[in-house]
Amino acid sequence: MDDNEPGRRVAQDVAGAGGLDGLHRLSETIDALEERRTDLVADLRNGRQATWEEIGRACGMTRQGATRRWAGRLRARSFGLAADSYQHGRPGYPQALIGSAVPRAARRVLDLGAGTGQLTRLLVEAGLDVVAVEPDRGMRERLAAAVPGAAVRAGSAEHIPLPDNSVDAVVVAQAWHWFDRATAVPEIARVLAPGGTLALIWNVRDETEPWAAALGALMHRSTRQQLDTAPVLPAPFGPPERLEIRWEDPTTPAGLVDLVASRSYVIALPETERTRLLADVEQLVTTHPALAGRETIAMPYLTRCTRVRLG
Ligand SMILES: C[S@@+](CC[C@H](N)C(=O)[O-])C[C@H]1O[C@@H](n2cnc3c(N)ncnc32)[C@H](O)[C@@H]1O
Repeated sequence: MDDNEPGRRVAQDVAGAGGLDGLHRLSETIDALEERRTDLVADLRNGRQATWEEIGRACGMTRQGATRRWAGRLRARSFGLAADSYQHGRPGYPQALIGSAVPRAARRVLDLGAGTGQLTRLLVEAGLDVVAVEPDRGMRERLAAAVPGAAVRAGSAEHIPLPDNSVDAVVVAQAWHWFDRATAVPEIARVLAPGGTLALIWNVRDETEPWAAALGALMHRSTRQQLDTAPVLPAPFGPPERLEIRWEDPTTPAGLVDLVASRSYVIALPETERTRLLADVEQLVTTHPALAGRETIAMPYLTRCTRVRLG
């Protein structure tokens, strides 16, 4: 028996008599296997049970190959490790956004990279028929509990678990920068009905407020991440419509610390650096003249939305 005989047998069983049906079943199984492999790599790395060398060897690749393949995805998935901070600390979105992000005639909406459901909840409250797709199990569990009115599915922007032409609108909030665009763009176009829309949304702190600028300066100490919040999309999408809404999210001193703790680059920091940063944020919150002694804090945001239509 050659080494991969069991694998070949599974492939043969799944593909059955072949043809398009067999190809379809085989492709779905490969996606599920790849998803499971990524989960296993994440578990091994998060529990520090294996090195990249060992993982690479188990997958038949070099250490560099394994690191290149999974490091970015694991960082994108690191949110699950701080799902509680995420749910408490991350802002929602202004209700007025929904009217711009989703066309009036749309009924079926996909919230892609839905996280713990900050935007999903507003979509459901607007009376839309919402499917929320999210790759991280921890985030999905919180999402399902927080927004029971949405259908929650495991999946990603690169493998959307929906049929062709099945939604009128796709919304992506704070997640577009994590997607592999070359795969995600055709995949989103596939699930959209003709004339459907895609809205890309980001909340950015309004740093014209001095204490928000001071908070931003602390956060930028640990990252050089610059987000493009007015992206240009390739065909088959048409020209962008852009919108910006200024609003305030009421939070608490602890919520402000959670806001920082839930950033992916903060989750990924070495423990000592992470602790120091969060202590500095706590100090800002307790000593800045505009914040000290406050029980609630109005965090100023600009919500930016880019909407494009399938050509
Ligand atoms: C910053 S959170 C935003 C969550 C939510 N949309 C919100 O506005 O609060 C980014 C989310 O994107 C998800 N994500 C990362 N890579 C993804 C991918 N390739 N496809 C779909 N979602 C992804 C993460 O698991 C995480 O839940």
